[in-house]
Amino acid sequence: MQKVDQVIRLLVVDVIREKWGDPPGEAQVQVQKTRREFIGDFTVVVFPLLRYSKLSPEETGNVLGKYMVENSPMVSDFNVIKGFLNLVVAQSYWKEFLDGDLQSGSFGTIQADRESPLVMIEYSSPNTNKPLHLGHIRNNLLGHSISRILEATGNRVQKVNLVNDRGIHICKSMLAWKKEGNGEDPESTGKKGDHLVGDYYVKFDQMYKSEVQELVDQGKSREEAEAGAPVLGEAREMLRRWEADDPEVRTLWSTMNEWVYEGFETTYRRLGISFDNTYYESDTYKLGRALVLKGLEEGILYKKEDGSVWADLEEEGLDHKLLLRSDGTSVYMTQDVGTAHQRYEESGFNSHIYVVGNEQNYHFQVLAIVLKKLGYQWADKLYHLSYGMVELPEGKMKSREGTVVDADNLMDEMEATARKMSEELGKLGEYGEEEKNRIYRQVGMGALKYFILKVDPKKNMTFDPAESVDFNGNTGPFIQYTYARIKSVIRKGESIEKVTGAGKMNEKEIGLVRMMYEYPDILKEASRTLNPSLVANFLYELAKEFNQFYHDHSILSADSSDQVSLRLLLVEAIGRIIENGMELLGIEVPERM
Ligand code: ARG
Repeated sequence: MQKVDQVIRLLVVDVIREKWGDPPGEAQVQVQKTRREFIGDFTVVVFPLLRYSKLSPEETGNVLGKYMVENSPMVSDFNVIKGFLNLVVAQSYWKEFLDGDLQSGSFGTIQADRESPLVMIEYSSPNTNKPLHLGHIRNNLLGHSISRILEATGNRVQKVNLVNDRGIHICKSMLAWKKEGNGEDPESTGKKGDHLVGDYYVKFDQMYKSEVQELVDQGKSREEAEAGAPVLGEAREMLRRWEADDPEVRTLWSTMNEWVYEGFETTYRRLGISFDNTYYESDTYKLGRALVLKGLEEGILYKKEDGSVWADLEEEGLDHKLLLRSDGTSVYMTQDVGTAHQRYEESGFNSHIYVVGNEQNYHFQVLAIVLKKLGYQWADKLYHLSYGMVELPEGKMKSREGTVVDADNLMDEMEATARKMSEELGKLGEYGEEEKNRIYRQVGMGALKYFILKVDPKKNMTFDPAESVDFNGNTGPFIQYTYARIKSVIRKGESIEKVTGAGKMNEKEIGLVRMMYEYPDILKEASRTLNPSLVANFLYELAKEFNQFYHDHSILSADSSDQVSLRLLLVEAIGRIIENGMELLGIEVPERM
């Protein structure tokens, strides 16, 4: 169906052309939602049109409003308040919209085709020395949801992961395991592989600290001790051997990394996320180094006396950036140069999004500049989606080290809380164990995901586990519960034959249709700004509005069969949008709850 706000724009242009000559382009006409305190659905801002009408705002609004009511069946009434023309959309339009567009399963979404823009989106991107934590959860949820939103708005999307699988960090875990591991592995310990390797990373740190202390006790300065601790030297030696392809080091490295990948995979599956492709730093850092050396040859980069290679970014208002160390080894940036290049060569992406925390703003700023300097025009297509930090409220669920919140533990905790709450509410009495467990999982994960995604990605946030499962707030479980309620109504009304075109809508019903009318624009805006919170908060408003309606009106025993039929169509449409929107957030909705 034609969009009525679009029609209003065209009508304004028509009036101006007809009455006052030379009209503006339709895009210049400002049409907004009418504010709650006024009567109407859409509001035309009249002030910018006075230069055409040469009349007062009141008179201009009246001329426009009268013309629209007389000439368009979509507009049934109007009023002018100061410089604002409030238009009432005809009941027949909303009715047709409900019977038509809103009954389509794909309402609001745009199917991509072969010509659609290809967006590559990188998220998660862990290091292999420790398990995923709360920060990764935000990262993964954002990456997954943004991918879904981009897909739903007509893009081809490639989801990729980058694993920083080489470097001193993983050598530290390897060394500690070699020294104190006694050959243990995930199977013999029953530990998840990523946790096992993470424990050895912690162990390395303990070994290091006690060696430093010993050296200090022997009279060395702290600085000397920290630089001279033997285990650190051993870890560095291990990294050198890794780079030299030493078979023993390489075997240990791939074994321990495999443990980690298995662990990550379990966590990803539980979070409901996946990737089309995974890139490994150990594969791309060499390409990065080659590109840097080429840049050096071409005089774009320069070499210092010690042999290290640098980019001079002073012209761009930044400092100098190290790209290869004096011993020829590469740094974090080197690898990203190679990874980006490889991805562009492989896919020819139209844009590339990096979902990475805001502590790496500088890194991504430099990456784009360095690539541009090296002559890659596609450097302009890189975009860093820089999200804020996420913390727990003071004193809750901190792990031994005091700061890191483990992703797996947190998910366990969420499910346990969902179970406890449901058992207290006692609503699931009649369900079998299996179904109960599924609901606990859906609710626990829904609470976690929704609470994180309802916040603007750029903002820092506190994840409050207790608040997130509250059935009465702006939470995932509230929306899930509303959905289950909708499904229950639909099940009860299943045998009722629904007729379109019948019934007259009341204000509340029109309000709900008008709200759903906005859904496609919400998706487009969420896609343009890479902001799932717009979808989340829209769903909350819709669920709230529905609950209000449900509270005030009977659906299955409405006054007439026409009314029952209309309300069922309305409720089905709301259910579909909630299901679809929650799916874009990566959140499952239970059929019953
Ligand atoms: N592994 C890195 C870290 O944990 C993040 C990688 C982000 N992505 C990238 N292309 N640099 O800090």
